[in-house]
Amino acid sequence: MRNILITGGAGFIGSHLVRLMVNKYPDYRIINLDVLTYAGNLANLKDIEKKANYEFVKCDICDFEKVQQVFLDYQIDSVIHLAAESHVDRSIKDPFSFAQTNVMGTLALLQAAKFAWNGKFEDKLFYHVSTDEVYGSLGEEGFFTEETAYDPHSPYSASKASSDHFVRAFQDTFGLPTVISNCSNNYGAYQFPEKLIPLFINNICQSKPLPVYGKGENVRDWLFVEDHARAIDVIFHEGKQGDTYNIGGFNEWKNIDLIKVMIKTVDRLLGREEGSSEKLITYVTDRAGHDLRYAIDSTKLKEELGWEPSLQFEEGIEKTVKWYLENTEWLENVTSGEYQKYYEEMYSK
Ligand code: NAD
Ligand code: DAU
Repeated sequence: MRNILITGGAGFIGSHLVRLMVNKYPDYRIINLDVLTYAGNLANLKDIEKKANYEFVKCDICDFEKVQQVFLDYQIDSVIHLAAESHVDRSIKDPFSFAQTNVMGTLALLQAAKFAWNGKFEDKLFYHVSTDEVYGSLGEEGFFTEETAYDPHSPYSASKASSDHFVRAFQDTFGLPTVISNCSNNYGAYQFPEKLIPLFINNICQSKPLPVYGKGENVRDWLFVEDHARAIDVIFHEGKQGDTYNIGGFNEWKNIDLIKVMIKTVDRLLGREEGSSEKLITYVTDRAGHDLRYAIDSTKLKEELGWEPSLQFEEGIEKTVKWYLENTEWLENVTSGEYQKYYEEMYSK
């Protein structure tokens, strides 16, 4: 029996990881620790919430004493840490909450692990889930490798970079067994519709304007979320202690091209004339400090641990669009209330 604490398990990526771990490893006890911010949603886990090897604990990662108690109560021997504030636009409006959760929260977890494990590090692991945004922005060419120097530009990426540094500091200073992965943009079911793909699918369905930042020329490297969860599983079990692994699918898209694919797919599935929703494209003021291009080199993960993405992008985006079209209740629930206020403030200019 392993007692694995997954933080942020009610969020987008966390819920896919919790599902994978609960179903694949009946002998592990999966403890999902999440404070349920606007982005956390237990409805994401409905299908597994009654499984015998799953527990949910409502807790703020910044609440050091409560986190310590969780380590004690559940005899935690491994952590997979995903809890974070994750949206770049929100970090521009409110950087404090990003430093608080992403930096101080990570530090609280590291300290709690260090105290609970008390130098007995055999069979222990602190796995920190990070982002490719810590590497900054690329020009037209090249890739982020595990050796690329950190160069974060947004308050979000600065806070994630800082948390990565703390994790490495705990490995080097205290011998805490750690591993870090840095992944590219994820897409798939259960993503909160503040992020490009679910936001635009929702707007296309509702024939609402599609707010494209700048000229739509920024490039992102998209990975199907279930492939990210599989990569975390592989790294958790087989990754080398103290190492970093980049995760990505060599799948770069210019925003405007990706948006046109989404439009075509939604139009077709809704029985509209294909491409007719292109008239909704609205170019708006660019995001401050908008990174031009991300592209991950995940060769190390493939060569050392044998991981590869399982889905081609065309298949992944079709599956994703269908999921949002079939799960209107989920979408309506998360876009009611507070979301309306956020949307107004963010896009009313
Ligand atoms: P998300 O915003 O969908 O979910 C974050 C989860 O963390 C939510 O369930 C939220 O309730 C929880 N949380 C936030 N603050 C908390 C706190 N103080 N205490 C406890 N729980 C808290 O995020 P996501 O997109 O699923 O990202 C998960 C992780 O993966 C993050 O660390 C993010 O930086 C990283 N990441 C995301 C992507 C991506 O494309 N979404 C890519 C690479 C890395
Ligand atoms: O690269 C990994 C990162 O990917 C993760 O660490 C972050 O948590 C995740 O949010 C994501 O960050 P991005 O900023 O790249 O994702 P987002 O979906 O917000 O935006 C994708 C691109 O689309 C980006 O170039 C900005 C643009 N965009 C986004 C929104 C929300 C628009 O043009 N209009 C929009 O309304």
